[in-house]
Amino acid sequence: MLQARVGPGVRKRPRPVEAGVQRQGEVKFRDVRLYLVERKMGRSRRSFLTQLARSKGFIVEDVLSEEVTHVVSEDNEAAGLWAWLKGRGLKELPKMQVVDISWFTDSMREGKPVAVETRHCIQDTLPTLSEGSTPTPVATVSQYACQRRTTTENNNKILTDAFEVLAESYEFSEMEGPCLAFRRAASVLKSLPWAVQSLGATQDLPCLGERTKAVMEEILQYGRSFEVEKTLSDERYQTLKLFTSVFGIGPKTADRWHRRGLRSFTDILAEPSIQLNRMQQTGFLHYGDISRAVSKAEARALGNIIDEAGRAITPDAVLAVTGGFRRGKEFGHDVDFLLTTPQRGKEEGLLVNVIDRLKQQGILLYCDYQASTFDMDKLPCHRFEAMDQFPKCFLILRLEGGCVEGGVQRAEGDDRGWRAVRVDIVSPPMERYAYALLGWTGSRQFERDLRRYARMERRMLLDNHALYDKTKEEFLAAETEKDIFAHLGLEYIEPWQRNA
Ligand code: CTP
Ligand code: MN
Ligand code: MN
Repeated sequence: MLQARVGPGVRKRPRPVEAGVQRQGEVKFRDVRLYLVERKMGRSRRSFLTQLARSKGFIVEDVLSEEVTHVVSEDNEAAGLWAWLKGRGLKELPKMQVVDISWFTDSMREGKPVAVETRHCIQDTLPTLSEGSTPTPVATVSQYACQRRTTTENNNKILTDAFEVLAESYEFSEMEGPCLAFRRAASVLKSLPWAVQSLGATQDLPCLGERTKAVMEEILQYGRSFEVEKTLSDERYQTLKLFTSVFGIGPKTADRWHRRGLRSFTDILAEPSIQLNRMQQTGFLHYGDISRAVSKAEARALGNIIDEAGRAITPDAVLAVTGGFRRGKEFGHDVDFLLTTPQRGKEEGLLVNVIDRLKQQGILLYCDYQASTFDMDKLPCHRFEAMDQFPKCFLILRLEGGCVEGGVQRAEGDDRGWRAVRVDIVSPPMERYAYALLGWTGSRQFERDLRRYARMERRMLLDNHALYDKTKEEFLAAETEKDIFAHLGLEYIEPWQRNA
């Protein structure tokens, strides 16, 4: 059956390979070691598949040793296979991926080891392995957001909204652990193509701990959660939520003002000892506009304006939308762009000139420009959540209703004919384009998990600038996002599937 699919392609490139000898120099994937289970597969087919894999740069072990990462089996039923595997007395067995031949087929077709997905796992349930070891679970949703496909369609909004309230509340209290736990749980539920109806249905899902399950149970049973309602009615939570909704006010400032007894915008503005910085002043000035969601049509209109400005400066200017709109969202809190030029070293000047032009057009209401601090010699950066070093700007632009199909989003009774919108633009050098695009497309949770995955599973460091392989001690070049996923050994996830 498999031969029918991959056979012809293989026969075109016959290669004499001595049985059992992995020829050096041909190995492309050093951290993957296959072992093909002869049981049921048969000897000649096993030898054929071994040669095929080796010809494609895979390491195939003849014996099942502790080094093996992927055990491939064909036509074995789970119980029998696991009993056989258990009998081998391997310490590392729980860490090995035990996969069906479909994983092998997919990997041969792609020419590289693909990420293990549910459909690649051996069917049936696992028997318990030796005590104390946890087997690689069958039919899993990955704990990493970068191995899940998450569209904008959320089938579990009631649950994820509840988790996000609690996550935010912990963020206000600077309790990173529980904050992250609720964020991860929310992210897992967002990826499900089905709505959770009972706690039992979630038992095989990762990242759901006791606390998240308790909240879930309450909501599934009563439609509401005591803890969430308590948080929502908590005075401190409400005040910090209000204060941080202003552009330029972060959780730290909000908390400081709250501790001084301030509870409303009027309190802040009437307090003589408070000196608002320029960002906060602008935040208050345009509060109504910039707290109103930006539509797709408005994002498109802004794209046209910035694209035109870029091309007026250099005809080869390249503009791409990133952030939530690239992920297919209908609304955003801002619009994010990547602007660059193929001319080396000219991207920073391009951005400065674009800002200048927007100013001359009279539509630049606010600009926080941050010059480049990019220095390839200072990479890799170990602070993963750190800002990137590309030239960038955080803007507020005046968007005329006439530029937008259907006009701008307006508040009731507003007849100004324009609105203020938050816009971010980043300008990486062209050879950093793929990394910057991946980093700025988000979502935040998706980015966090890409980096965590790289570090934990691949011994690599990823940020908005580069990917560094700690084993090979080298930077990995990438022209496209697909190249980066490939370096990480991940299946490619489309931007619209990154709404983790
Ligand atoms: N980002 C970044 N460095 C910054 C600012 C943002 O790398 N200094 C990245 C974030 O990690 C995120 C993406 O840019 O992945 C977009 O950020 P943001 O606009 O805050 O979020 P969106 O996902 O676009 O959500 P929204 O629609 O609310 O704007
Ligand atoms: Mn955005
Ligand atoms: Mn942004």
